[in-house]
Amino acid sequence: MRQKHEELFELSMLGDAFEKRYRRMRPEVERMPWGTLTPAKYPTEIVAAARRSWTLSAYQEHRTGAACAATLEALIAARAPLDLIAVATRFPLDEMAHVEMCARIAGELGGGTPLLHNSWSLVPHPSPSLPPLLRAAELVVRVFCVGEAVSIPLLRGTWKASSHPLLTAVLGRIVKDEAAHGRFGWVFLDWVAEFLGEDERKHLRMIAREEIAKLETSWDNMKPKVFGVGDVNALGWMESEAYLALARRAMETVVKAPLRARGLLDG
Ligand SMILES: [Fe+2]
Ligand SMILES: [Fe+2]
Repeated sequence: MRQKHEELFELSMLGDAFEKRYRRMRPEVERMPWGTLTPAKYPTEIVAAARRSWTLSAYQEHRTGAACAATLEALIAARAPLDLIAVATRFPLDEMAHVEMCARIAGELGGGTPLLHNSWSLVPHPSPSLPPLLRAAELVVRVFCVGEAVSIPLLRGTWKASSHPLLTAVLGRIVKDEAAHGRFGWVFLDWVAEFLGEDERKHLRMIAREEIAKLETSWDNMKPKVFGVGDVNALGWMESEAYLALARRAMETVVKAPLRARGLLDG
């Protein structure tokens, strides 16, 4: 049943001068080989699954954009180092470009699929009772050290497997941007370490555990689809046992191990 505040996930552009300004900020997007996907070449069920998958990706990028912006606000409030904040100001723009690219791929495949979302609770907000620096650290752990960090090897795997030039271009760009987002989390944690007491570390350990468990549960509930690997790779997404295996390995090596090394994960 539709819950209060649930809305269809739809996007728009203002166009004209503002679109031109945006294009100048991210010129590589228009240089990609748009208009080259030919969905009629692929089995209908594969195209339907790819449309759904790219629509979901657009929505995930949209949520990450909101999460990057929330983190940015917290970093500014906490007076984190100015150069660190300045680098992070690019992240919401990166995510908006990712939203556009994923949505355009869904469009080329026949259009996005209907997706209801709750725009009132796009991102988790740390308790306002926490001090600004801990609020920023909580968001960095959730968004960058877990979510963004684990997505990098997964995106890289999908990029390497993709065989269509448009999807290779889009995924390659996303991988490049996400690599910078992933690094940012650890740089922040290394800077903030000297300001954290045992209570703050305990809080961040709880946040890391919670965020990791959320992702691992979603993977446990994912039912991998069995499609022809060639067609799936041509349409640029992974939804398979191989993806889940890679996700679990990535969680250990790029999330849990670096958190453990910083004393922010037990066990
Ligand atoms: Fe992204
Ligand atoms: Fe990102």
